[in-house]
Amino acid sequence: MAKSPHLLTEVNKFSRFVCLNVSDKGVCVGAGCSMSVLKSVLERSINDFPPESTHMFRALLQQIKLVGGQQIRNVATLGGNIASAYPNSDLTPVLAAGRCTLVALSKDGRRRVSIDKYFFLGFAKTILKPDEIVLSVFIPATRPNEIVHAFRHAPRKESALATVNAGMRVWFNANSNVVKEISIYYGGVGATILSAERACEQIVGRPWEEATLSDAYTVHKSTEIMNVLEGQSAQDPVGRPMMHRTALSQATGEAVYCDDLPQTDSELFLVIVTSSRPHAKITHIDFSEALKLPGVVDVITAKDIPGKRFRTFIGYDEELLAEDEVTCVGQMVCAVVADSKPHTKRGAAAVKISYEDLQDRIFTVEEAIEKESFFLPRRKIERGDVEKGLREAEQVYEGKIVYHIDFSEALKLPGVVNVITAKDIPGKRINESVAETLGIPSNRVSCHVKRLGGAFGGKVTKTAILASITAVAAWKTGRPVRCVLERGEDMLITGGRHPVWGKYKVGFMKNGRITAADFQYYANSNTAFRGFGVPQCMLVVESMIDDVALKLGRLPEEIREINLYKEVSHTHYKMEFDPENLVRCWNECMEKADFRQRRQAIDLFNQQNQFKKRGIAIVPIKYGIGFAEGFLNQAAALVHIYKDGSVLVSHGGTEMGQGVHTKIQQVASRELNIPASLIHISETSTQCVPNTCPSAASFGTDANGMAVKDACQILYNRLEPIRKKNPKGTWQNWITTAFLEKISLSATGYYRGHDLDMDWEKQEGKPYAYFTYAVGCSEVELDCLTGEYRTLRTDIVVDIGRSINPSIDIGQIEGAFMQGLGLYTMEELKFSPSGVLYTRGPGQYKIPSFCDVPLKFNVYLLAGSSNPHAIYSSKGIGEPTVFLGSSVFFAIKDAVTAARKDADLTGPFQLNSPATPERACLACATHFTKMVAQSGSTSGPAQP
Ligand code: MTE
Repeated sequence: MAKSPHLLTEVNKFSRFVCLNVSDKGVCVGAGCSMSVLKSVLERSINDFPPESTHMFRALLQQIKLVGGQQIRNVATLGGNIASAYPNSDLTPVLAAGRCTLVALSKDGRRRVSIDKYFFLGFAKTILKPDEIVLSVFIPATRPNEIVHAFRHAPRKESALATVNAGMRVWFNANSNVVKEISIYYGGVGATILSAERACEQIVGRPWEEATLSDAYTVHKSTEIMNVLEGQSAQDPVGRPMMHRTALSQATGEAVYCDDLPQTDSELFLVIVTSSRPHAKITHIDFSEALKLPGVVDVITAKDIPGKRFRTFIGYDEELLAEDEVTCVGQMVCAVVADSKPHTKRGAAAVKISYEDLQDRIFTVEEAIEKESFFLPRRKIERGDVEKGLREAEQVYEGKIVYHIDFSEALKLPGVVNVITAKDIPGKRINESVAETLGIPSNRVSCHVKRLGGAFGGKVTKTAILASITAVAAWKTGRPVRCVLERGEDMLITGGRHPVWGKYKVGFMKNGRITAADFQYYANSNTAFRGFGVPQCMLVVESMIDDVALKLGRLPEEIREINLYKEVSHTHYKMEFDPENLVRCWNECMEKADFRQRRQAIDLFNQQNQFKKRGIAIVPIKYGIGFAEGFLNQAAALVHIYKDGSVLVSHGGTEMGQGVHTKIQQVASRELNIPASLIHISETSTQCVPNTCPSAASFGTDANGMAVKDACQILYNRLEPIRKKNPKGTWQNWITTAFLEKISLSATGYYRGHDLDMDWEKQEGKPYAYFTYAVGCSEVELDCLTGEYRTLRTDIVVDIGRSINPSIDIGQIEGAFMQGLGLYTMEELKFSPSGVLYTRGPGQYKIPSFCDVPLKFNVYLLAGSSNPHAIYSSKGIGEPTVFLGSSVFFAIKDAVTAARKDADLTGPFQLNSPATPERACLACATHFTKMVAQSGSTSGPAQP
């Protein structure tokens, strides 16, 4: 093929391409002007023009300095940068925002073109015609009251392509803060630069203030939803997507965590020595060699504990340090304290524990069932005559399913015992536990929690024990002691989620209606984790639905729909509820996910592909919020107003990333009618708010929000006479006056929550304040030969009443879903035959990462919902959507069903959770996997 002739030339050899023309309107430079020349032109212009006219020059200069290195800037030209239309260009967003134009030249003449959204058509594409070249670029000076800024975010400050860059220009009306014109452009976020037009529209004509910008931010992030009331003031942040108050400091690493606290003089480190035996008598602990090692100061055993040597959880005593007997590998036996972490570790390795093994060892739930080794009491709920129901059902099926992170830190200081910890419950467990362990009153123990780097329930119990052991070490040595578990130690000691073994017998009619079901659950009592057993048990129920569908040759979604609550109903524990919003979530999710059409497309795909199969599933969740132990549904708060008008709020909830402090800030802002920026939320401390209840059961904002609301209302009402006297005054005026008039500017607030209860004798109760409803739908593509899958799309519809902060809530929904996805398809603890945990870190224990996020991920909040049982009609959302991760599990099961159909296998089959690639692959029953199965491999859970 003949090549078309090319003429190559160096444009900066032609004076017309580098010439410069300066007027009071701005600077016109030739397109062949190198970056280095342009830099000096701009520097000169900044000196020559009046300062208010130079904003654009400064913004551009800031960017030019970062374009490549000096050598590149010496040859790269402005025209080239524009015409190449590279989406990450550092210059084009600023040129576009700053109203720059260019002159294009061709044999037909020249034309002036704006460098704006219409100029860039796509990746490396502009509206320039093939025979056109850029002749010059005009950079306007800024007009009075006009400001231009450039922003750049790159992996490194210099010599790195920007990840995102932006140019922003705002022009104000004369002598006012009202925006006349605004233009925002981003680079690096698409195939070409993007204009944030809708956000700009939102700002034009409005004063430049927090509320305006926050609205623009909301529009800008099109997935964000607002839940504001009609007539709600622009300053009131409730219902608005206010950013998590420490998001930036956490993302940049500036946020301070427990172990970031600087070392104090004479501080010691503590390392726990754990049992290496699954069940044994401790015959001797020899730490003489450890004490001889450099830096080792002491070894703490149970005998050193001055007070109570155990903690009681859910009616069972757990020893802080094992004294006579150990019942699992990883049980805490003693602790070594030394002057540095390496010395402590060496000391711990030198401790010799002698054991006498006991033979009645139990490793799995199945073994516990077989040996009838249960924690009592066994709970039972029975409604109707199950036997009769099963007898009368047209079909009966029996099935079973087996379901199979965290970091703890504590620092103690002697004297009044100060506990600085990463823990969900500073008051109830740590404060009480440390006091009881040391045999001192609780008022001598002060516990502080700044923030947790994530807890997810895993810090509800074991951290109190660790804090108590560390307190004993501080007490005994008279020195501050720091205990920070490493990941592996933490995974070994804190226990992990509870495995559940579920069995069911279900009776159903040919039309898919389930008429009777008998479930038996056996759960090992491990550490609490988001959902606390609900995600595991719900999986058993939904697996049963799948089995009924497979038995009848119907689709699982049909059986789910047939058996869904439809009208005001009672749960099996006789709690009345209205499922209207659950049904709405279901219908909306079906529609938004375009479910029926995609089901057909999937069928077609599966017919056309042998080893790649697609599957889809939709699952509902009705999740109870609140503590069944009624006394835990209470909270307190302390609010101080300072003389300068700033406000400090303390409450009993702990911030673990779920955003409780941000929501509380919004509550205080609304109640005191002041901007959120005047409010600071202090660390959680038992000195400010004692006797706190757990930040758990997704009840943190419900409870603490109400307590803060109460305190703020007390203060607001106290200021009423002052406001009346000076209605036009400002918040600051009123506070100054209140102080001068000797009015207390501090108040405590209290919330006496729902009286919830579950009567296990009568098998009935009201253990929840209300239900959060949600429905999730996922589609996966499964590689039947490897078992690997990809989540192609997920749609979630959630009823969370009137969200206090839609951004945070959507973050919680997405995060919980991803955690559920990990729980049901990936995360698996593996043990040695003698019960030693192998999976002690990210190397062996796989949690979902970015690549596992569904390719298309939509979250919708159900509109028009409200909730009379919680603050501002909101609903708790921390835990419920973990279960929606199971939509991926069931979509995998659906894809496996299609693969099995090719092998002429129909009807129910057991797929245990997590549906790891091995299990999914084996379940596909291709002729390859059949060969493996014949050689003796099982698809069951990892057996220790
Ligand atoms: N979100 C983050 N980022 N980190 C966490 O540790 N814990 C979850 C959920 N969301 C958690 C989280 C759990 S287990 C619960 S019960 C709730 O947050 C607790 O907070 P809330 O009651 O304020 O919703």
